[in-house]
Amino acid sequence: MMSNLPEVQINLFKKSNPLKAKVLKNIKLTPEKGSAKRPVQEGETDIHRIILSVDHNVYPYIVGQSAGVIPPGDDPKKVEKGSADTAYTVRLYSIASPTFSFGQSKNTLEFIIKRDNIYDETGSLLHTGVCSNYICDLQEGEEVILTGPAGKKFLLPREDFTGDIYFLATGTGVAPFFGMTEELLEQKLIRFQGNLTLIYGAPYSDEIVLREYFQEMERKHNNFRFIEAVSREQKNSFDGGKMYISHRLREEGGKIPQALNNNGKFFICGGPKGMEKGIIEVLMDFAKTDLPYEEFKKDLEKKDQLLVETY
Ligand code: FAD
Ligand code: A2P
Repeated sequence: MMSNLPEVQINLFKKSNPLKAKVLKNIKLTPEKGSAKRPVQEGETDIHRIILSVDHNVYPYIVGQSAGVIPPGDDPKKVEKGSADTAYTVRLYSIASPTFSFGQSKNTLEFIIKRDNIYDETGSLLHTGVCSNYICDLQEGEEVILTGPAGKKFLLPREDFTGDIYFLATGTGVAPFFGMTEELLEQKLIRFQGNLTLIYGAPYSDEIVLREYFQEMERKHNNFRFIEAVSREQKNSFDGGKMYISHRLREEGGKIPQALNNNGKFFICGGPKGMEKGIIEVLMDFAKTDLPYEEFKKDLEKKDQLLVETY
């Protein structure tokens, strides 16, 4: 079955001709500081689900693409340098809603965004991220300036697919997998006959956001599994250290070569930058490859079996 998915389009809106979108909802997904599992000396994690009003006829995005956000005001560093253009640079955020929106209404675009702040060893705020705090503070009805869509590689199969799919996420890396899970399992824009596994890592169990949604999908679809790796609460069974998503993937054992040899796909998203390495090394072990790391990675990417978006 060929799907009715729109063409992949990029850069329809640029800094010079951006799109204005309205905030419909801003939902805090993590607990208040006082009731969170994270010890106060480790600062705070604050993750929000932001729902924007976006007409898909005007901004035809595909889940897996990102949208740019331009924070308002002048960048003090650019002002100090005397730059001609003092506007902030665009920040990219993964689109977290399915290609035709939740409800297939084609009128929203969603983000999952964490305040990117840095804390000292006592838990006091040292630095605040400009754009992430701006977005997390947005109120219903306010306007946001968008660019994009951006990216044309980190995409679901566009035609019927029988291979297994692994989503591997850390932190806000879960964002694209929210929309992708909905699109694959609920909206069924293509016929998907493989197994879908989401392995999602976060420091504390209350920082795994959207758990209820993924658990509900697990109950409804017997080809979907939702696996958590809670690094600062769980220990891995290999060396007794922190539980990372790479350890959870290793626990999959024979399912990995099965996926690799049958056109399966591994999507990796989130931070820290470079975290894909540990995952790709697990894939290399199970593939029993003689190729060096870079060649193995390139080969899988060329076959569209490995899709990496780490930041
Ligand atoms: P900035 O102001 O740019 O600061 C960056 C970092 O530096 C912050 O940690 C800040 O606290 C720190 N800092 C500030 N001042 C100082 C200083 N003086 N000294 C040292 N450090 C300082 N993020 C999400 O939350 N969700 C997503 O879905 C998402 N998707 C992404 C997709 C892609 C393809 C990419 C590339 C990135 C994505 N990001 C996502 C990350 C996002 O683009 C931003 O990088 C992030 O929000 C930080 O931007 P900011 O403006 O808040 O921080
Ligand atoms: P930790 O920070 O305990 O070492 P967040 O973006 O919310 O900080 O979450 C990122 C998650 O990814 C954390 O649980 C973090 O663990 C974990 N992590 C850090 N480094 C790696 C890595 N190389 N591979 C997999 N997970 C990692």
